[in-house]
Amino acid sequence: MADTRSDLHAYDRYISKLFAPEDGALESARKETVRAGMPEINVSASEGKLLQILAQIINAKRILEIGTLGGYSTIWLARALGPDGKLVTLEIDPDHAAVASRNLERAGLTKTVQIKVGPGLDLLAQMLSHSEPQFDMIFIDADKESYPKYLRTALPLLRDGGLVVADNTLPDAVLDSRADHGAKRYNADVGTHPDLTSILVPVLRTRGIDGLLISLKRTEGKGRRRN
Ligand code: SAH
Ligand code: DHB
Ligand code: MG
Repeated sequence: MADTRSDLHAYDRYISKLFAPEDGALESARKETVRAGMPEINVSASEGKLLQILAQIINAKRILEIGTLGGYSTIWLARALGPDGKLVTLEIDPDHAAVASRNLERAGLTKTVQIKVGPGLDLLAQMLSHSEPQFDMIFIDADKESYPKYLRTALPLLRDGGLVVADNTLPDAVLDSRADHGAKRYNADVGTHPDLTSILVPVLRTRGIDGLLISLKRTEGKGRRRN
């Protein structure tokens, strides 16, 4: 029998309780975001923990996030970094950035995280032209239509062996009838990219299933590799 929506919710609660319990800073980041009237579209706790572990596995020192909202995913990711680590997060809405800034302060992450306010693509172009040092991991989670452009623009900012991870790549890509849907195009671009080896992992959210597309950048020694 197919799992119902409430089964999925129960699985997510089970996983989060055991492996991704929220402390005060994460809980208030989520609640303050809602209180400010912003949409409740942050990653789930279990997905936040997955992002954090991915960053730890590659020993990330520098992380780039596109789409801050209230800084909930930012906190999970920034906690993967040591005291000398750095996370840059890009947000178009100054009100969102202001809420995130307070949430990050409460989490004690003001020194680790820099919020840049503006359209993501413009900020990426600026960073490229100012020779920003490369990142170990890039998390794409802003407007879905721009996902393919974020990939093309941000990939030069990712080190070889680094990860590019994109949220919300599953239900719409399959169920939305538009062939040009941003996530659908992103998935196809990533799937055929010569420098990326990837897998789309289904993840649990409060409102059901979503997808996290994880891509490893490999530009060296590709001749021997088939995937
Ligand atoms: N990563 C967050 C959720 C981000 S929601 C979390 O999981 O906690 C998506 C965010 O992207 C919103 O805050 C929205 O304002 C922002 N956004 C939308 N278009 C953007 C653009 N062109 N450039 C930068 N940010 C954008
Ligand atoms: C939605 C969810 C997200 O994680 C996001 O980044 C944007 C929108 C949503 O459920 O609508
Ligand atoms: Mg998202």
